[in-house]
Amino acid sequence: MIGNFAIFRFKMADTTNVYASIRPIIRNVRFINAGSSTKLSMRSQLVVRTSGEHEFKAKKSGKSIEECEAHVVAGNALDAPVPPKPEAQNPAIPIFPLQSRPRRNRRSRVLRKAFQQSQLSPSNLVYPLFIHEGEEDDPIGSMPGCYRLGWRHGLLEEVSKARDVGVNSILLFPKVSDALKTPAGHEAYNENGLVPRAIRLLKDKYPDLVIYTDVALDPYSSDGHDGICREDGVIMNDETVYQLCKQAVVLVRAGADVIGPSAMMDGRVGAIREALDDEGFQHVSIMSYTSKYASALYGPFQEALDTKLSFGDKKTYQMNPANYRETMAEAIANEAEGADMLLVKPALPYLDVIHRLRDNSSLPIAAYQVSGEYSMIKAAGFFRMIDQEKVMMESLMCLRRAGADVILTYFALQAGRCLCAEKR
Ligand code: PBG
Repeated sequence: MIGNFAIFRFKMADTTNVYASIRPIIRNVRFINAGSSTKLSMRSQLVVRTSGEHEFKAKKSGKSIEECEAHVVAGNALDAPVPPKPEAQNPAIPIFPLQSRPRRNRRSRVLRKAFQQSQLSPSNLVYPLFIHEGEEDDPIGSMPGCYRLGWRHGLLEEVSKARDVGVNSILLFPKVSDALKTPAGHEAYNENGLVPRAIRLLKDKYPDLVIYTDVALDPYSSDGHDGICREDGVIMNDETVYQLCKQAVVLVRAGADVIGPSAMMDGRVGAIREALDDEGFQHVSIMSYTSKYASALYGPFQEALDTKLSFGDKKTYQMNPANYRETMAEAIANEAEGADMLLVKPALPYLDVIHRLRDNSSLPIAAYQVSGEYSMIKAAGFFRMIDQEKVMMESLMCLRRAGADVILTYFALQAGRCLCAEKR
């Protein structure tokens, strides 16, 4: 008997041992009205929990606490567990004289949980959502399970589902009609554009929702580039930053909480910080895309928003996937310019970059599990080549282990649901 717990051993039909603990639980708590006073009535019951290899569900023993105690006091308590006998069909060998057996720390679920270093919670997740002007939700072929959501209805419903499982941060991406696209991306700072309108609607309905916004020109540019293109194809830095500042201010005026400058233009963080501060928005955060690599994994996203490039590639502003020293240079510049968070994108193939940033900065680190990463897991799951849900959860946990505080992922709702189910 240990405190209120008694432990018993049972021999099963297959001669294995099963250990059971009995513990009291309080059931049927009732308030009884006796004349002028109210009494509390409680009936205690005992629950048997079995352990060992057979993980049985808890069952009621039917015995009272007194009966159980009497049983143990009468000397019926168990001896220490007997080591299992070697089975006849296995090789009979002398036991290795090992001092260290790391498997001891992995031998049961409870021990594994106790020693687990990284944790994943819905509050670590940010849910990127695509929106459009239409009323209907429009499925995205290259991203099964994702939709261009109607900003009036579908968007609100998706946000509500996410909040139900504890995901209360979103990131918005607009699908803009070709008619509104220009070389300098003017629609990006239209006060009444799709994103500012959606932010106002969301903030009206869910004031505590945290809204991240992407600051770049690509959804609004007739060339699909993140910046303004000169006639000779050069992406102009300072002119683009000027536009980005206007875009950031418009988004924050609408209610955005976090500005995510993703265009990889030099000096973007400092310029946006100054523009926001000048407008009295000192409290609004900047999540800098410190290491945004020129990755082919953005393909499905570009299809979703119809931002395919009219020429060239993004290699003069996004980083070379072969490099990490650039990340360090960007991180130093971003921090000095006032960034509040540093982001790595894509995520899983860049775990080393996340880890290096984590070790070299005290700012929160964000990782963006991008569209191609999402679609690969979805597609392989669809063909039953992998267990989609397990790979999804493993990929997110590994990002946390590498050092990501926050994860931007199209799996946010699905993962949030899994995490809630695990808790139950
Ligand atoms: C554009 C932007 C891109 C993504 C986020 N912001 C595309 C790009 O840079 O080409 C990609 C996200 C994804 O693939 O999920 N500024």
